[in-house]
Amino acid sequence: MGDNIYLPQLARVIHVKEEVPGERSIKTFRLEFVNGGGFEHACGQCAMLSVFGRGESMISIASSPLVSGYKQFSIMRAGRVTSAFHDLAVGDVVGIRGPYGNSFPIDDWRGKNLVFIGGGCGLAPIWPVIQTAVTRRDDFKNITVFYGGRSARDIMYQAELEKLRSTAEVHLSVDNAEEGWHEFCGFVPANLMDKAPTHDNAIAITCGPPIMIKFVIKNLRALGFQDEQIYTTIENKMKCALGKCGRCNVGKDYVCIKGPVYSWADLKDLPPEY
Ligand SMILES: Cc1cc2nc3c(=O)[nH]c(=O)nc-3n(C[C@H](O)[C@H](O)[C@H](O)COP(=O)(O)OP(=O)(O)OC[C@H]3O[C@@H](n4cnc5c(N)ncnc54)[C@H](O)[C@@H]3O)c2cc1C
Ligand code: FES
Repeated sequence: MGDNIYLPQLARVIHVKEEVPGERSIKTFRLEFVNGGGFEHACGQCAMLSVFGRGESMISIASSPLVSGYKQFSIMRAGRVTSAFHDLAVGDVVGIRGPYGNSFPIDDWRGKNLVFIGGGCGLAPIWPVIQTAVTRRDDFKNITVFYGGRSARDIMYQAELEKLRSTAEVHLSVDNAEEGWHEFCGFVPANLMDKAPTHDNAIAITCGPPIMIKFVIKNLRALGFQDEQIYTTIENKMKCALGKCGRCNVGKDYVCIKGPVYSWADLKDLPPEY
């Protein structure tokens, strides 16, 4: 087990799943450490993944800390490194260093209602929290998940979300009406307002495109959620993850060190550089 978070380790791809097809496709990778490596992580933390000769990218660890044997990552094809990831196959070896960043204070949320709101690839960073809450089901009251994609084929974790319905309320949405879709049509913040979950004894956790987060927070406030009840995780561009290069800063905060998880009470006073 590696205890130096700055030292890259080797991991082998043991499973690849195409979540979302198309130009900005998303694939989920399971990585197993090799040579006796490994590290523990907490919900919300990330890792720097590298494809040799192509570079490295910060990616949220999408598996629950309670799962052992592999770490899971859902990666959207954006540019050089993420495209190289999409070309990998089972058996290929990559580099991984971490874990980095702070985490969601899930232990402080015992006895509360949890409301998750995700959009697009933004379900991946909050998925470990959802999975941990489900595993520790008795620690929490209602678990409600709002999640939306542009269209039905953009919904990631489809089978997992169906399974989740046995323990949580799941409200899916697509941006526009389409044949065969029987759930909400419209943007994620509108679905949230339509179902209007109570703010009473609740914590809201949101991740998605910045424009979605902006309107989700506006709507949560309208539903009576206080700033301290709202958490998000931000994905500012990162290079070193060590607090050295200054690539990720928001105001005086290096997000790679202080974030990526923020309560809205902490984030709202920082410059809107995220
Ligand atoms: C804390 C954190 C968690 C992240 N979690 C995930 C995750 O779970 N899954 C995932 O797919 N991606 C995640 N990202 C984003 C991911 O790191 C970038 O998409 C990736 O580094 C792009 O690398 P690339 O070489 O493929 O693209 P590049 O060739 O470097 O860039 C391609 C395009 O993407 C833009 N871009 C690059 N990085 C970012 C960024 N961070 N935000 C917005 N635009 C960007 C570039 O400006 C360019 O237009 C996360 C980022 C951070 C900081
Ligand atoms: S990524 Fe270099 S300072 Fe945060």
